[in-house]
Amino acid sequence: MLQAKDIYKRFGESEVLKGVTLNVSRGEVVAIIGRSGSGKSTLLRCLNHLETVDAGSIAIDGQTMVENGPDGRAHYRPDKELRGLLLKMGLVFQDYNLFPHYSALQNVTAAQRMTLRRSPQEAEQRAMLLLEKVGLADKAGEYPCNLSGGQCQRVAIARALAMDPELLCFDEPTSALDPQLTQEVLSVIRQLAKEKRTMIVVTHEMNFARDVADRVIYMDGGRVVEDGAAQDVLGSARSEAIRQFAGEVGY
Ligand SMILES: Nc1ncnc2c1ncn2[C@@H]1O[C@H](COP(=O)(O)OP(=O)(O)OP(=O)(O)O)[C@@H](O)[C@H]1O
Ligand SMILES: [Mg+2]
Repeated sequence: MLQAKDIYKRFGESEVLKGVTLNVSRGEVVAIIGRSGSGKSTLLRCLNHLETVDAGSIAIDGQTMVENGPDGRAHYRPDKELRGLLLKMGLVFQDYNLFPHYSALQNVTAAQRMTLRRSPQEAEQRAMLLLEKVGLADKAGEYPCNLSGGQCQRVAIARALAMDPELLCFDEPTSALDPQLTQEVLSVIRQLAKEKRTMIVVTHEMNFARDVADRVIYMDGGRVVEDGAAQDVLGSARSEAIRQFAGEVGY
C-alpha cells in the first residue's frame, strides 16, 4: 500500500530524517513511537507531502510520488498527478485543524465539495453517516468552540474519512486530550482498525500501540531503530533501547 524508501530530510543545518524506510501493507495498522524530536511528525508530513523530501522514494498503491533522479535528489511527479495520488492519503493532526467558522457538518463537507466535487446532498449525506460513526450526529450543527477536544478530534477523523483515503495517518491524535477524551478518540481508531483500515498512528499511548497496532516502529534520531510485530517490540522480550524509552514514558 505504501512504500517509503531511504527518506532524507533536513531543515537548514539539521538532518531530521536520515534514511527512513517504511512499508505498510493494506489493512495494516502501524504505530510509530519515539522521543520528542526523533522525526515522527516530519516523516508523516513528508509522506503526506506537507514537506518535500530531499532524497528517497515514496510510492502509494504501486504509484510513485517521488523518487531519486540520476543526481541522487528527490524528483516529484508533476503536480496534477501528484495531487491525485495524495487523495489516497489522509492526515489527522494533534490539534485537529478544524475550520473554526464552520460547523462540524461543514467541516466534514467542505473538502468533499471543493476537492471531490460532490454535490451538496451527497456530501452532507456522507458527512452525517460519518458523524454518526464517530458518535457526533447530534453535534452536526455545533461550531468547534462549543465542542470538547475529543469531539473536535472525532470531527477531524470524520472529515478525513469523508475523503475515502486508502491510508489514514494520525499524528499524536490524543496528546492534547485528557485521559477520558483520549479514550473516546482511541475507541474510534480501534473501531477503524477492526474494519481493517490501513493506518499509521504516531502515538505515545503505548498500551494502545501494543493492543491495536499490528506493527510498531521505534524511531530515534531520524532513523527507524526497530520495526516489528507489536508484541515483539513492546512485549516482555523488548530490546534494551525500547526498555529505556518505555521507562522514560512510564510504560
Ligand atoms: N519546519 C521545521 N523547521 C526547522 N526544524 C524543524 C521543522 N520541523 C521540525 N523540525 C525539527 O526536526 C526535528 C524533528 O521534529 P519532529 O516534529 O518531526 O519530531 P517528533 O518526533 O514529531 O517530536 P514530538 O514527539 O515532539 O512531536 C526537531 O528537532 C525539530 O525541531
Ligand atoms: Mg511530532
